[in-house]
Amino acid sequence: MNLKNLLVLAIICTCFIQNASAQVLSSISPGQIWPDQQGKHINAHGGGVLFHEGKYYWFGEHKTEGKSGNRANVGVGVYSSADLYNWNNEGIALKVAKENSGSEIEKGSIIERPKVIYNAKTKKFVMWFHLELKNQSYNAARTGVATSDKVTGPYTYVKSFRPNAGIWPMNFNDAWKNKTVKEADLKAWTDEWRKEVAEGLFVKRDLQKGQMARDMTLFVDDDGKAYHIYSSEENLTLHLAELTADYLAFTGKYITIEPGGHNEAPAIIKHQGKYYLVTSGCTGWDPNAARSFVADSIWGPWKSLGNPCVGEGADLTFKSQSTFILPVAGKKDTYIFMADRWTPENAIDGRYIWLPMTIEDGKPVIKWQDNWKLTKE
Ligand code: GAL
Repeated sequence: MNLKNLLVLAIICTCFIQNASAQVLSSISPGQIWPDQQGKHINAHGGGVLFHEGKYYWFGEHKTEGKSGNRANVGVGVYSSADLYNWNNEGIALKVAKENSGSEIEKGSIIERPKVIYNAKTKKFVMWFHLELKNQSYNAARTGVATSDKVTGPYTYVKSFRPNAGIWPMNFNDAWKNKTVKEADLKAWTDEWRKEVAEGLFVKRDLQKGQMARDMTLFVDDDGKAYHIYSSEENLTLHLAELTADYLAFTGKYITIEPGGHNEAPAIIKHQGKYYLVTSGCTGWDPNAARSFVADSIWGPWKSLGNPCVGEGADLTFKSQSTFILPVAGKKDTYIFMADRWTPENAIDGRYIWLPMTIEDGKPVIKWQDNWKLTKE
């Protein structure tokens, strides 16, 4: 056999071995290792899914081993799937910059909860994420944006900043603008402090440099308008802010939701004309009980509906924290609640809790299942 034939044989064998190792999945097993089509546990934490031209694209934090694996050592990963069970690793959509390069997204920074939306007017894919600058713990509290012409990337980093500098929320009382009380004058967690938080203590503190933006999600409404929802004000209050027509900036229209309510991990859907929001409380990597809210208009008022989880394990969201709610394409009223079961000591081992979410009597309902499939119709 000559060298050329040997090479062809080697390529054929490699393909065969790779295909042989790829299992075909036909159901979802929350909390278990979820092998991609290459046989490796999916690495897309704090993720979100974009449905585009007949395929799903799952973007998420690419974690590495150990505790330091919670930092952005590699970037944002992307996987594709036609059936939501079998995912093909499409590589790193947004790569971190080289260490010590001075880039805001250099290796060792923190990039969390990336979400991607498609702008039909500009034909660009737009990714937003929570960014913490290297060696600054979680103090920067910025949101970052990157774009690409191709869904799987490579995404080009545009900028990061704190949203809505110099702008008051739309649902802010004029009288609160002139208040002189400062954070240092108050004892945290007292009734007086809570009242001041609700009346904009932190909005005012951060007015000039922009509002803090940590855990986040994106939502595109039926009219093509996009919104960015993020934990602000020291994670005490959610902000919901409109994006510009190109999805690359904020218009300045925003509201506060549940001032002082301590909501993180926002995930949102629109169902039969109403908006439903699911969040978590604030206990870091540890799970807590989820919360849910409903509104007739995206601008509120948002009404609390309590814990959407039902049954054993509901008090800790089945040991997970929300990240996204995926409306399944072509299946009416079918939603997947996507959450993370974090493993902070070995970040890469984090598990995915995907469960069906239904709306029953005007409330989101999530129940545990060891293993489940999407219905045929
Ligand atoms: C969680 C948050 C995660 C991550 C973590 C860090 O509350 O939802 O995205 O930031 O804290 O401790």
